[in-house]
Amino acid sequence: MTQTIRSASDLRKSFLNKLSEQKYPSEPKGLYEPVDYILQIGGKRVRPVLALLGAQLFGADPEEAMPAALAVEIFHNFTLLHDDIMDASPLRRGQATVHEKWDVNTGILSGDLMLIKAYEALAKTPRAAAVPQMLQVFNRVATGVCEGQQYDVDFETRHAVTIEEYLKMIELKTAVLLGGALQLGALAGGANAKAAENAYEFGRLTGVAFQLQDDLLDIFGTETQIGKAVGNDIVRNKKTFLYLKALEASSPEVRAELEKFYESTPVDAAAKVTRVTQLMRELSIPGLVAKLRDSIQQDAYAHLEATGASAERQAPLRELAESLLQRQN
Ligand code: IPE
Ligand code: IPE
Ligand code: MG
Ligand code: MG
Ligand code: MG
Repeated sequence: MTQTIRSASDLRKSFLNKLSEQKYPSEPKGLYEPVDYILQIGGKRVRPVLALLGAQLFGADPEEAMPAALAVEIFHNFTLLHDDIMDASPLRRGQATVHEKWDVNTGILSGDLMLIKAYEALAKTPRAAAVPQMLQVFNRVATGVCEGQQYDVDFETRHAVTIEEYLKMIELKTAVLLGGALQLGALAGGANAKAAENAYEFGRLTGVAFQLQDDLLDIFGTETQIGKAVGNDIVRNKKTFLYLKALEASSPEVRAELEKFYESTPVDAAAKVTRVTQLMRELSIPGLVAKLRDSIQQDAYAHLEATGASAERQAPLRELAESLLQRQN
């Protein structure tokens, strides 16, 4: 019997249905309302769709990975609550962040609860035999995300950061979760460990490309598109690939100007953002980011091939990855 191959957008719809069925207690409001809020105000749902596609890649019914899909999306949204506190970000998905709408303590505790809810979801995986290994993967990924977040924060105040260090940092804070989503989905669908590893590698590299695009959009996107305040990475002195490449490409004078900007937090943050953005544009930084992003995505496809899955089953993942490379939000 041939099973129909489901597209990423079809699986996204199924996931959203499932998510809307999640009901939280009504009290205490200060704990549960922010959870509902952050999960309902949108988002691309990249990670849950990857989990569902991870199961389908190896011939399983993607619905088998629905608990894993919920787990990775809830976990991701937990990291956003805490990340927005850490980055002092006022906007998320075009709406006030939880710590702005409520307060920092609310963001901390509702975030903590979401981490618990992520584990609760994962444990509901129907293929019970896969759960111990899935827990191992999940724990490794979640630890990596915390390590990446810490490096990200450390680099704000560290003077010298190398491109290699930056790439390692984004791999941890972002890419391991995209890889983990695919790997969890694959395991939930009964894939063997080796196949699931290759799926992980594809997701990991796709995740590095994804974070490069996030860093690009942070500076060169618009608030309407990204639903976040533009230039926050410049305000926070984030040593992204854009900044590190700009240093590399600039004259000694411009380099000194950039370094000075990134060593302080001027009162007029808007003027800093405007000037740094202008310098990056003059140095053709957006093109360099796009080039690295696209070449990493090509490496990712090699791992997708190595899964040995049929071209037909690879196709929705390729389509999803292509749309992520082009994304403006
Ligand atoms: C934002 O993730 C945080 C990063 C790792 C870049 P997304 O860009 O996937 O955010 P949503 O879930 O679509 O809002
Ligand atoms: C997010 O990185 C990484 C995690 C949430 C773990 P960013 O700080 O770049 O994400 P945005 O830009 O706020 O979405
Ligand atoms: Mg951050
Ligand atoms: Mg942030
Ligand atoms: Mg960002």
